Amino acid sequence: MDNKNDEFSYVHHIWTKDIQFYGNTNPIRLIEKYGSPLYVYNETILRKRCGELKKLVSYPNLRVNYSAKANTNLSILKIVHDEGLLIDAMSPGEIFIELKAGFKPEEILFISNNVSDDEMLFAIDAGILISVDSLSQLEKYGRLNKGGKVAVRINPGVGAGHHEKVITGGKNTKFGVNPGLISELKSILSLYKLKLAGINQHIGSLFMNPDAYIEAATFLLSFAENFPEIKFVDLGGGFGIPYHKENGELPLDLKTLGGRLQKVIDNWVNRNGRQIVIKIEPGRFTVAECGILLGQVHTIKENGAKKYIGTDIGFNVLIRPALYDAHHDIEIYSRIKRESFKNESVTIVGNICETGDIIAKDRNLPVIEEGDILGILDSGAYGMVMSSNYNCRLRPAEVLITSVGEDVLIRKREEIKDLLLQFPDKTYL
Ligand SMILES: Cc1ncc(COP(=O)(O)O)c(C=O)c1O
Repeated sequence: MDNKNDEFSYVHHIWTKDIQFYGNTNPIRLIEKYGSPLYVYNETILRKRCGELKKLVSYPNLRVNYSAKANTNLSILKIVHDEGLLIDAMSPGEIFIELKAGFKPEEILFISNNVSDDEMLFAIDAGILISVDSLSQLEKYGRLNKGGKVAVRINPGVGAGHHEKVITGGKNTKFGVNPGLISELKSILSLYKLKLAGINQHIGSLFMNPDAYIEAATFLLSFAENFPEIKFVDLGGGFGIPYHKENGELPLDLKTLGGRLQKVIDNWVNRNGRQIVIKIEPGRFTVAECGILLGQVHTIKENGAKKYIGTDIGFNVLIRPALYDAHHDIEIYSRIKRESFKNESVTIVGNICETGDIIAKDRNLPVIEEGDILGILDSGAYGMVMSSNYNCRLRPAEVLITSVGEDVLIRKREEIKDLLLQFPDKTYL
């Protein structure tokens, strides 16, 4: 598009300009066309990440399962499917939408946690393999599907992640079966004549240093030698992305991770004389960087010693900063050209009635003005999927910038009447 940059300017840019994230349009036009706040995804980046994962190791039996919990937009799932990735589900709802996106039952692994009989039966009836998360759930599965195929999630005793709330391996978490319970595990398998299809693990979310992942992978593969019948070992996700691009943070070194993983796999294949299927299940790495959340600045005020930038990006729209103290780099766009780019310390907040409704605390940024548009980078993972109607606010729309640069609506903005959807026609009183 000829004059797309004449009608707006980057006050603070670090990333999207260089990679032409917005294709043939720009953030101001997008907000005018689709409203604010708005999730925007870039198809080219998504496809690139999928491709990088498929090449992680040169092992013919590597399978990449996208962990859909990070982003379940139907169009995103369709692109991931088109790229040839398989998929994980964490709930019947995720299974439902993945089937709608075109995944076949045998391409889905249901990584269950404390599920009910009905939820297990939902997956069994759909022909989807379930990974159970405890011995009691394994017994439940055995009762419901005697003689069936099952996977078991193991807790390798190692954890890693960007926040204690996302570390899922080790002693302080609810996840997985303790490997010390192997004889109990084997007895339940034999009591219900279950076939163990595979074992899986996930040590936590967002590692940039591969040491813990490699340690856990080595452990799980050697633990797998106790089960000569199993078909796959799933090493989990957690692959990090550089949220601090502005400070020059480098991406996860996939070459080093892949090289080290290749050695662990080769050793196993040499020792055991068979090419077992190795799965990985990255969510964030696949989708985080292809997504940006746009929002508008409505208020600027000072309170005490702080300057607050008031926006429509509440934690109902993006909860990561409030929940995990997570950092997102921020771009600033203006409708008019700015003369001065003086920096100051500001705290960027949303429109939710909570003191903790903060997107960025004490951030040193060029002066922001009312009417500016903010772009919250790396919001493609655990953004829209964790949004809510808190304060009766509406979930935003989602737009895709296609690989030829066009903008396409891929989820409608909620309307105020949607707030009544779940109430029965006849209400109490
Ligand atoms: C079992 C399991 N697998 C995969 C993932 C994906 O993690 P990430 O998005 O960090 O790759 C998660 C997320 O916590 C998970 O719980």
